[in-house]
Amino acid sequence: FIENYFKQLGLLTERPRAEFTNIVDKGSTITYTEQGGQSISLKGNAVNLSGTGKLTAPFSYVGLGLDGQIPTNSLKGKIALMQRGQLTFSEKLANAQAAGAIGVVIYNNVAGPLLNVTLSKQTSIPVLGLSQADGEKLRDELRVNKNLTGELNANVVSEIFKMTNVVGVRPANKENAPILIIGGHYDSVPAGPGANDNASGTALVMEIARVLQGSYPGYELRFIAFAGEEIGLAGSSDYVRQMSQDEIARVTAMINIDMISVGSQLYAGGAPELTKLAFTAANAEGITNIQPIPKGLEGASDHFPFQEAGIPVLFLNREADPNYHLPGDTADKVQPERLAQVGKIVIKVIDGLIKN
Ligand code: BES
Ligand code: ZN
Repeated sequence: FIENYFKQLGLLTERPRAEFTNIVDKGSTITYTEQGGQSISLKGNAVNLSGTGKLTAPFSYVGLGLDGQIPTNSLKGKIALMQRGQLTFSEKLANAQAAGAIGVVIYNNVAGPLLNVTLSKQTSIPVLGLSQADGEKLRDELRVNKNLTGELNANVVSEIFKMTNVVGVRPANKENAPILIIGGHYDSVPAGPGANDNASGTALVMEIARVLQGSYPGYELRFIAFAGEEIGLAGSSDYVRQMSQDEIARVTAMINIDMISVGSQLYAGGAPELTKLAFTAANAEGITNIQPIPKGLEGASDHFPFQEAGIPVLFLNREADPNYHLPGDTADKVQPERLAQVGKIVIKVIDGLIKN
């Protein structure tokens, strides 16, 4: 439907494939024998995108595994035991691998098991999570038994989800033109139909495509409906991964429209210059209910992979939807005038951006 609409507008359409790998843990373990001869088997939880398989090697405790704190080569052929905190899991893994680790165990820094953790990309070595209590038990054993050797068994299988983004391109009138990306995700969660989250944003991306058809001929306009946002920004991450450095450098702005048709309070986040334009645009439209995006939501949608790639982003959303991710997120709750407000803001932001 989205692709046909883009086609009808005369846009060039693409459906770049996006993939998302999720691992299913079939029972991963960390086993070793205590000083007293007692054999111990701890339940590990493979971190998403961990490598698979078994290996036996000495353990080495490296605390938080902070940058510059693990001596060069000190983990050669070893399993690094680390505590969660301060760095991302991928950063910890990179530090351990740089020092030669062939397996990594990360234990929780709060009570309970380490669940629902993901790396930023697939790794070949096993990375298992432990509960805080089990991690401390292993760490304490290592204090008395410095040469402790054990087995990591990452017993996991990967499931690959395949999906497609839907892209409509309005080419520029010249080669190597600057690019503007306007996007929003078109998937929803299984629990709800997703009228506000995010048919609202998808519809607005389509409408903006219609409105901007003949505008800014010196710019390449890309309208993107992203797949798999709700399973972890899968479509947008894959889209950014497939962009060349040259393309990334040509993107003037990426505007992400997600959940914008319920509630009066509007939020804008992302690059300071773009957020400022959004505030100015809102004021010009007489909209006063606009605030900076609340803490914790900065990475909660498809602008984030673009931001990580160094692209200036703008994230527009309305937070207070009582039916967020619920069966009640239905079309009758959509407030058309709220959608229109955001549409007008986006058009004004682009206008301000291009005139500046
Ligand atoms: N539309 C939401 C993000 C959102 C939530 C905006 C609440 C405004 C208020 C988005 O689709 C979502 O649910 N994101 C996930 C994170 C994502 C990485 C799976 C979330 O916030 O839990
Ligand atoms: Zn959403």
